[in-house]
Amino acid sequence: MKKTGVALLGLGTVGGGTYRILQQNRELIKKAHGLDIEVIKILDRDYNKSDALNVDRAKVTFDIDDIISDPSIGIVAEAIGGINPAKSFLIKALEAGKSVVTANKELCAKCWDELNAAAKKGKAGFYFEASCVGGVPIIRTLMDGMQANNILEMKGIVNGTTNYILSAMTQCGTEYSDALKEAQKLGYAEANPTADVDGFDASYKISILSTLAFHKHVPLEKVYREGISSISVEDINYGKELGMTLKLLAIAKNNGGKIEARVHPAFVDNAHPLATVSGSFNAVHLLGDMVGDIMLYGRGAGDLPTGSAIVSDIVYAANKGGAKYNYNNGTFKDSDFAGDFTCKYYIRMNVSDKSGTLGKIATVFGKNKVSLQSVLQKDVKDGFAPIVFTTHETGEKNMQKALAAVKELDSVIDVAAVIRIE
Ligand code: NDP
Ligand code: HSE
Repeated sequence: MKKTGVALLGLGTVGGGTYRILQQNRELIKKAHGLDIEVIKILDRDYNKSDALNVDRAKVTFDIDDIISDPSIGIVAEAIGGINPAKSFLIKALEAGKSVVTANKELCAKCWDELNAAAKKGKAGFYFEASCVGGVPIIRTLMDGMQANNILEMKGIVNGTTNYILSAMTQCGTEYSDALKEAQKLGYAEANPTADVDGFDASYKISILSTLAFHKHVPLEKVYREGISSISVEDINYGKELGMTLKLLAIAKNNGGKIEARVHPAFVDNAHPLATVSGSFNAVHLLGDMVGDIMLYGRGAGDLPTGSAIVSDIVYAANKGGAKYNYNNGTFKDSDFAGDFTCKYYIRMNVSDKSGTLGKIATVFGKNKVSLQSVLQKDVKDGFAPIVFTTHETGEKNMQKALAAVKELDSVIDVAAVIRIE
């Protein structure tokens, strides 16, 4: 039986889940994969979490060099999070020839080149299935299942916290802040949850996933990002009236060599499978030029789902030995990125209750090449009337120009919400 020695860095939600899986399913992995995985050392800040998991204190260390210098450890699995000290720990491990498995999407997205260079230098494997979409094997699918395809488009719900919050607001009218507290309690949220709600976490993930899908690095600064913190139950409810559900989407497209990558809230038609993905569940829809549509669905956050992805990488790294994915095809140039993108829009504005207002607004939109699809006018309240428009597909730049001009109209009190429709 092949033996594999593993070190775990960080024993919080994900590290704890990983440890439990490695204990509980050790026999299964032996039988099914011919691999005996032993956790040799655990690095954490104190004994609190290791004591709670009944880990022998002799396995616990507070010094990364105990792990780097131990020849019985071939794989280092990191679930500390953040950039430092995780980055220096992983670079040390890779340069020492140990395979690295990580759940740390922020680190992968921000330090992609350095981590890959360290892996090359140490001839070590670098694996990060758990960094994107929790327990859903999206990276394995992209790397091992889509070789025959040009991937044309990827569209997904890739953040469990925001999907949990939006689902609670949609289904139960829960206040945003209460839903966020619940997601934190369940272990889905990042240490600083602005990473989730402001769309940073999803932007890390789409940077990583689009890099793999399009075979060249899509740097994080090329990902357009908006979060969900200004979303209101009012807009979610208007969306319902229009047959749509609000989601935080991560989108990447390759339009004939022009790349776009973006993260923002978007309404999706209730008939689209992404509309039904609720709670901490995530899903990614892929479009390959040969296979057509594929959709992966599962838990995008939490201890055991994410631990499942880490353990899968550990088994993969142990079986593949030195062999690893080839991610090194350079970086897209500025000119490879699309300067604009197109979609439909939902716009809610408050206008004064005067005749002719609707006509003036429609004229401004028309002049800026924005064609209206539907208008929903609600009862006049305190002298002003809320109006919800949806548009046909139009360019983002045209839309921004149109909105600037609409805001100049005397009868427009404010443009309260602009949400893309995908
Ligand atoms: P936690 O905060 O629950 O766990 C992090 C652990 O690392 C804690 O035990 C923490 O100790 C320890 N730690 C922090 N700094 C150090 C250090 N300098 N040296 C040693 N130990 C340290 O985070 P999560 O498990 O939620 O997340 C870990 C990583 O996994 C992150 O990169 C996250 O983005 C990613 N991830 C998380 C998912 C989730 O569902 N939670 C899903 C997918 C990925 P202490 O508590 O004392 O700070
Ligand atoms: N905070 C992340 C989420 C964890 O909510 O999706 C999983 O990557």
